[in-house]
Amino acid sequence: MSFSEELLNKIKKEADIVKIIGEYIKLEKKGANFVGLCPFHPDTNPSLSISPAKNIYKCFSCGAAGNVFTFVQNYEHVPFSQAVRIVAAKCGVTIDADSGLNEGPNLSKYYEIMQKATAFYEFYLKNTNDGKIALSYLHSRHLDDEIIKRFRIGLAPAAMDLLYRSLLNDKVQPLNMIEVGLVRSGKEYYDVFRNRIMFAIEDLLGNIVGFSGRVYQKSDLKEAKYVNSSENIIFKKGQLLYNYKNALNEIKSANRVFVFEGFMDVIAAYRASILNTVATMGTALTQQQIKALNKVTNNVTLCYDSDFAGVEATKKAIHLLNQAKFNVSVVRFPDELDPDEVINKYGIDRLKQLLSNEAITGIDYLYELEKKNLLVADINSVEAFKQKIFEYMQYYRSQVLNERYLKQMAKDLNTSIESLQADFKNTPLKSSFMQLDTDHQEVVDFKTKITTKPRKKTPKLKFSIAERGLIRQIYWSKDNCLRAQSVLGPIFVLPKQRDLLYSLYDYYQIYPDMDEQIYKSRLTPEMLDLLVDILKDTKEPFIELNEIFDLISQYNNEKVTENVATSFIEEPSIDKLKQISQLKKSTIKFKGSDNND
Ligand code: UTP
Ligand code: MN
Repeated sequence: MSFSEELLNKIKKEADIVKIIGEYIKLEKKGANFVGLCPFHPDTNPSLSISPAKNIYKCFSCGAAGNVFTFVQNYEHVPFSQAVRIVAAKCGVTIDADSGLNEGPNLSKYYEIMQKATAFYEFYLKNTNDGKIALSYLHSRHLDDEIIKRFRIGLAPAAMDLLYRSLLNDKVQPLNMIEVGLVRSGKEYYDVFRNRIMFAIEDLLGNIVGFSGRVYQKSDLKEAKYVNSSENIIFKKGQLLYNYKNALNEIKSANRVFVFEGFMDVIAAYRASILNTVATMGTALTQQQIKALNKVTNNVTLCYDSDFAGVEATKKAIHLLNQAKFNVSVVRFPDELDPDEVINKYGIDRLKQLLSNEAITGIDYLYELEKKNLLVADINSVEAFKQKIFEYMQYYRSQVLNERYLKQMAKDLNTSIESLQADFKNTPLKSSFMQLDTDHQEVVDFKTKITTKPRKKTPKLKFSIAERGLIRQIYWSKDNCLRAQSVLGPIFVLPKQRDLLYSLYDYYQIYPDMDEQIYKSRLTPEMLDLLVDILKDTKEPFIELNEIFDLISQYNNEKVTENVATSFIEEPSIDKLKQISQLKKSTIKFKGSDNND
């Protein structure tokens, strides 16, 4: 369901980005560009800049950036294709009915295939010897037959191509099986999911659009715990919420939704008879998901894991949901347990109690989180704490919240509200808040860069995590691997991880998919250790591929800029200056731009 490059370019050419964005927000001319208040974060100074020459917008405060389509997409919370339609209509380009939109050039054939696959997996679980082992695993996790049926849990056989052959007998075209991510082709066709317990995943309308497959047997291969359908025409992880359709009525009647990190948590809550639940599949909440929630309730309780990634996801979700005017509360689970583990350790009633009585408001959650690092005896810690809370106050700009925070701070710091208020007034506005990456919009100032301390750089750790994430995401996916290769090319990376990256590039030059035995046989023991370590680490935050590309290019860029800047001092030249400014610009190019859906 994508538009031709040609059509998109035509619309882009016709569309006056300033005029179209100007229909949504007030713009003022500033030099060659136009500026306005950014609609994607609470903005007081116009920080959104639109470049008619480059046909892009960029917010210098929150980092939102993209072209005319992504602006409309994000502003109106519509799918990309819808945004294209809107822009086309505004600038008088006609799109013929079948060139993209019509929200489904009949996707029903794909949904049917997914139904067939689900039935196949269910049958295999119920009627085979392998199934017996898988069933006893499920039962040991307290998933009884009623739950197995309701959540459409099944089993993918260990054999290479049983699903493929069975769908083929059912007159399903191999090409369609590939399109929906069930089958891949190498020399032969073979099944993507093998020897895994299969959880069917529905979209917001209740169509089965993908699967998540869980390992259930001990094996020496360090495999990912879950393998998910790759993004395809029907499976779009950021647009669906697990259990949404099933839970609709319950959410409405309770006027509240519990949002979990994974589907196992939804199922755990079901065991506790809590049915107004959904899950994002281990990823951060998206605007599309928020929009879906907005249709049914304005009370959200976040129930993410309390590990590092979960806390980060919670913070981000609180901000997004607050912006969307939800009442947000948060459940904190004890001992880094997830809901499923809470039941197993403390019983069903404890989970019920946590969800229904022990949630705190999002605002209090943020405060408590910062308070954890506070050492009242240490003046530095007190200052850091104050700064952080002041940042929230600046961000939310709410009298009620300010009063609440100031009162609480006065108590916790054993000081007066008045002096805190004075300090707050004197705090300079900080715009970096909630930005995932560091600012890369500053004008090049190579002198200050080398004579004074270098500006804030991407922390190496974050970069390293991005790289590890990259390896995880390209390991099983030739598509992702080829994308990485074409977007990133031969870039500067941490040496050991680079070796792995290159070995994957090489491997996928030859093989259509991951055969771990072949691939691993090409690695040195050291590389193998690193690989195993990277693949098993699911606690690291999940970062979208585009964001990873961004981070890696940015880091690379900083490195190269540094080198060029140093060499400029030794031997100044106009070319080097140009090169530096070019390098600084190029870091924004992946984000938000051409994400066709
Ligand atoms: P968790 O690691 O918290 O899994 O991942 P869980 O829900 O506790 O599952 P069990 O109890 O170990 O079986 C949460 C979500 O993150 C995604 C899945 O969507 C999962 O539901 N995830 C996790 C993956 O996609 N891949 C993984 O390897 C791990
Ligand atoms: Mn779990």
